[in-house]
Amino acid sequence: MQRTLKILRFNPETDRQPHWEEYAVEAEPTDRVLDLLHQVKWYQDGTLTFRRSCAHGVCGSDAMLINGRNRLACKIRVDQLGGKRITVAPLPGLPVMKDLVVDMEDFFAKFRSVQPYLQNEGMPPERERRQSPADRDRYEDTSRCILCAACTSSCPSFWAKPEYVGPAAIVNAHRFVFDTRDDHADERLEILADKDGVWRCRTIFNCTDACPRGIHITQAILEVTQEIRTADLS
Ligand code: FES
Repeated sequence: MQRTLKILRFNPETDRQPHWEEYAVEAEPTDRVLDLLHQVKWYQDGTLTFRRSCAHGVCGSDAMLINGRNRLACKIRVDQLGGKRITVAPLPGLPVMKDLVVDMEDFFAKFRSVQPYLQNEGMPPERERRQSPADRDRYEDTSRCILCAACTSSCPSFWAKPEYVGPAAIVNAHRFVFDTRDDHADERLEILADKDGVWRCRTIFNCTDACPRGIHITQAILEVTQEIRTADLS
């Protein structure tokens, strides 16, 4: 069947503003939007620029705005999108470098700011640091983040205030704050107690809706907020 792929294009070397371009493509119902983008790039216009790597929803590199929602191009199928025209634009709220490629530097700087790694001050055990299944379950959900930025770039609080650390960073802080093997939860909570930390969340749930991994992001933010309220951070 035929589909029209309407893509928001921008070349910083020649364009002052982004503009829409349309491409007719042949699509199977089970094709992913990434397959259609490849069709355009390989057979119609090699200048089309977008990120992708694994093509299986694992690496998080091809999040984009597809028919008005942040999604992974490699996961969303043509038959999941109504209509004959599919619109594709870069993730909102992030600086566009070229076509569908956005600048992720600030996004990853915020991710790094919450110390997203295990810190344990004790002597290393002879074998692994053991943990009960119940303790492991405490952060199972937030451990599934693939850092695609679909959540942060769908958040109106982030659009209004780009200094906001954003849902993705809070999710990755949650991953370690609730890990019983980690000794630095309070440091992360102090970072997130900042004016541009968790308090900027307005529980709009856009982040939860956008997450391709189905992570309960708003709930995770509320759990971190509650932890800040009860922690002794003085
Ligand atoms: S290409 Fe890796 S998540 Fe889509």
